Amino acid sequence: MPIRPTVAALRVAVFLAAAMAFATQLVRAQAPTAPAAPAAPAPAAAEADEPVPTFAADFLRDTRVLATGREVWQQQCRHCHGNSAYPGKAPKLSPGGLDPVFIFDRVTYGFKGMPPWRHVFTREQRMAVVAYIKSDGFSP
Ligand code: HEC
Repeated sequence: MPIRPTVAALRVAVFLAAAMAFATQLVRAQAPTAPAAPAAPAPAAAEADEPVPTFAADFLRDTRVLATGREVWQQQCRHCHGNSAYPGKAPKLSPGGLDPVFIFDRVTYGFKGMPPWRHVFTREQRMAVVAYIKSDGFSP
């Protein structure tokens, strides 16, 4: 008879020990994963930059390219940068001093008050408007 409580106590002790071990394992298991969780900012993963284009002389002179560029300019650039734009809306472009790759970069990714045009115009259209801005026929 006196042995019964001892067995019961042993069972409780074994149960408690098991519970403790389990809890410790839980803590251990969570410890390494806790810092890993915030290290997955998937939505913040920015879109990769586009490859930087090269503007060959032939491309910059191509009449079809220039016609496309003129269209883009009139459709979406002129009302901010053009001569008839509301003063102060955007700087007048002085294309002589601007490198084609620089213009492409600004047009693609935007700059301060200017939105990016990456998802508005195709790469071809953005390259074309650069060619147009750099051309002798550019008429802002
Ligand atoms: C909503 C008005 C707006 C439109 C539309 C717009 N831009 Fe802009 N753009 C700006 C503003 C504002 C800046 C200057 C930001 C600053 O310097 O503070 C700018 C800057 C630029 C620059 C850089 C100039 C420099 O010297 O740093 C280029 C190049 C340019 N825009 C080209 C274009 C082209 C090409 C288009 C058409 C696809 C276009 N922009 C459409 C407002 C506009």
